[in-house]
Formats: sequence, structure tokens, C-alpha cells
Amino acid sequence: MTPARHAAITGWGEALPPAILTNADLASLMETDDEWITSRTGIRERRVSHVLGADLAHVAASHALACAGLPATDVDLIVYGSCSNDEGVPNTASGLSVKLGCGHAAAMDVNTACTSFCYGLVAASAMVRDGTIRSAVVIGVELISRYMDWSNRNVAVLFGDGAAAVVVQASDNEEGVIGTVLGCDAEARQSLRVRGIGCGYANRDVSLGDTLWDFDGQVIFKRAVHGMSEASGRVLREAGVTADDVDLVVPHQANLRIIESVAKYAGIGMDRVMVTVQKYGNMSAATVPVSLVDALKEGRVKPGSLLLMPGFGGGLTFGALLVRWGQRTTPLGESSMVMPPCEQTALELVNEIRAKQDPHGRSLRGLMEPVFAESRTS
Ligand code: ACO
Repeated sequence: MTPARHAAITGWGEALPPAILTNADLASLMETDDEWITSRTGIRERRVSHVLGADLAHVAASHALACAGLPATDVDLIVYGSCSNDEGVPNTASGLSVKLGCGHAAAMDVNTACTSFCYGLVAASAMVRDGTIRSAVVIGVELISRYMDWSNRNVAVLFGDGAAAVVVQASDNEEGVIGTVLGCDAEARQSLRVRGIGCGYANRDVSLGDTLWDFDGQVIFKRAVHGMSEASGRVLREAGVTADDVDLVVPHQANLRIIESVAKYAGIGMDRVMVTVQKYGNMSAATVPVSLVDALKEGRVKPGSLLLMPGFGGGLTFGALLVRWGQRTTPLGESSMVMPPCEQTALELVNEIRAKQDPHGRSLRGLMEPVFAESRTS
């Protein structure tokens, strides 16, 4: 294929599970309260999905394709950005391809934890620009509720499920991702680990779904602020623009205080920052695209807007993207795709998961056995 000059974002769509888990719901399950959660994190509620991640992605991607006016058969690549894939082999992107009807489109899963959407968008945009493909659907999607350790209040209050997608297409106009900084603070990778997912836990009597969340919240907090602030500063400098040129920051949403700190370091007022963490919690890879779609719906993205997207996640991966929006901020078309109805409350969904979990009992030894890269001496 002929290389394109640019990779424009031409479609967008989201899928938020209808079941809402409030702070009061959580307080009925564990020793916590609305005041603690709201004051430390800014989170008031989050969504719990009754369907698999690929089902959420299907709804989000269908809306994004209709928005772009792009038939599924014209998609060259599907990127499924997630750390909660429905299955490992075959990859989840290929399942989504079948659901969407994308024929022989290339399909890849990208897992850089919370930054998976941002990494995926960079990869897809680069492939469009070098002529490998002409179009891609890039999704950020997470189904965290299924492997959350619901007995651990330190983490159970922080996360939510959701998905959003964008369509990327070759363009002659200078739009799409125009600046990129990606990196990984790997020395501190042990500060954010979910034990129980991956081959390291195979054949150790670990029940799938039993997890231990090994998080050092304060280390993550500091490194998140540092990583996103450094990356944001660099991406602006390298593009030859300043904080004043940024119309809207669409950051990863882990915690309101992290977002406020990143904005402060960047010298950007909170009036130019998109915040959704209060409604959805931390949806990992889905936070940036969901916030982008909400910003578009609320009219906060204007023709030609300059968007800054800082991200941070397990690994500890980080990055900042600079995106120049095109002239269109409204969908070309609508999809009739909707989520299947949910018959249960969020609390009922969570209680169903909790009833099957026992990470601190039957699975504990196997969860703690594996030794990973940073613990090896040679
Ligand atoms: N309800 C009530 N009390 C709680 C809860 C809860 N849900 N969770 C912890 N506590 C208690 C702790 O046990 C501790 O009690 P103690 O003093 O008696 O030991 C006390 O509250 C203070 O705990 P800290 O860990 O010091 O609280 P902190 O102010 O650091 O806030 C938080 C914790 C919100 C996790 C913060 O560190 C943070 O935002 N970290 C970064 C975000 C993060 O880790 N996100 C996870 C995803 S990573 C990502 O997306 C990049």
C-alpha cells in the first residue's frame, strides 16, 4: 500500500455496562466508606459488566465504525488493547473480528496494562503512515471485575469495567497522532502486580479468577505523576508547542489527585482537563478512549483541537500522545448495536463473583510461588 502522510481519527464509540456499583454498595461489602473513597480517589461509582470484554468491544467498535462511515469489511487491522483478555489463544482481537465481520483484517492484542489503548493507537497510526494498512479499529477495553480480589479494599474500590474504540484512517491532512513519547519505568514493575493471571501460575493449584493484587499505592502514585508529567513535557517540547496550545488534556484516569498533579506540573488548568474517574473509576486501558468519547459528546473537542493524552500503567509503562483533531466532531452515522440487557444489579454481579473466589485460602500458596524477572539475581 502507498504510505499516507497522516493517520486521522475518523470514528469513535464507547460501551459502558449498565450496572452501576456505588461507594455505598462497596461499603456494604467491606470496611470502607464514601468519604474515604471520594477524598482519596475522586471515585463515586463504577460499572460492572455482565458480558465479556469482546462484547463490550463489539458495541464500542460498531459505534466507532458507523461514526466513521467505514464498513467493517474495509478494516485492515483490529487492535484489542487490554490486560483482561477473554482468552489468550486465540487472541481476543480475532474474536472481535468475527463479531464485526472484518474478514481477513489483521488482528492483534496489545497489553501494556492501562496504557494499552495509547500504545495501540501509536502502533496503528504508524502502520497507516508507513503504508502497511489504510485503516484500523483501536480499542481500549477492560473486564476487571472478573479477576478483582473483592476481599481487598485497597484495590477493590478503585476499578471499573468499560470499553471505547476509535477508527484510524489514512489522511492527507495533518491530524491524528502528531507527537508520541512512550516509555517504561521497568525498575519499579513489582509495585503493580496482579498475581494469578499468566502461565507462571499454571499447575500450582490456583483457581482461575483467584488473584492477589500486589500494589504499592504510594509508589504508583508518585511514579504515575512523574512518568505522565515528564512524558507530557517532552511530547510538547518535541512538537514545538507549549501547554497554552493544548485545548484539552485527556489523561489516564486512575485517581483524581494524580490527574490534578499532572495538570499542575504541565501548567494546565483543570478547566482544560477531561475528568471521568468520578463516574467510571479506573477502567485501565479504557479510561483514555472513554474520556475522549465523552469529551466529544459533551462538545469539548472542537475542530482542530490539540489534545494531550498522558497515560500510565503496570510495567510501569507510561506515555503521552499529542493528537490534532480533524474538522469533524460529530458522527457520520449511528449504529443500532446495543448491549444485551442486564437483569442483575452491580452488587448481585459482584456477589456472584465473590462467592466463587478464595485467593487467601485454596489458591494462596500457588499465587505466591512464582518468582519473576526483577527478583532474579543473575
Ligand atoms: N477504605 C477505607 N480505608 C482504606 C481503604 C478503603 N477502601 N483502602 C485502604 N485503606 C486504609 C489503609 O488500610 C490505611 O490504613 P492504616 O493507616 O490503618 O494502615 C489507610 O487507609 C491509608 O492508606 P494509604 O495506602 O496510605 O492511602 P493513600 O492515601 O496512599 O491512598 C490510594 C491509597 C488511593 C490507592 C493511593 O495510593 C493511590 O491513588 N495510588 C495510585 C493509584 C493506584 O494505585 N491505582 C491503581 C491502578 S494503577 C494505574 O492505573 C496506573
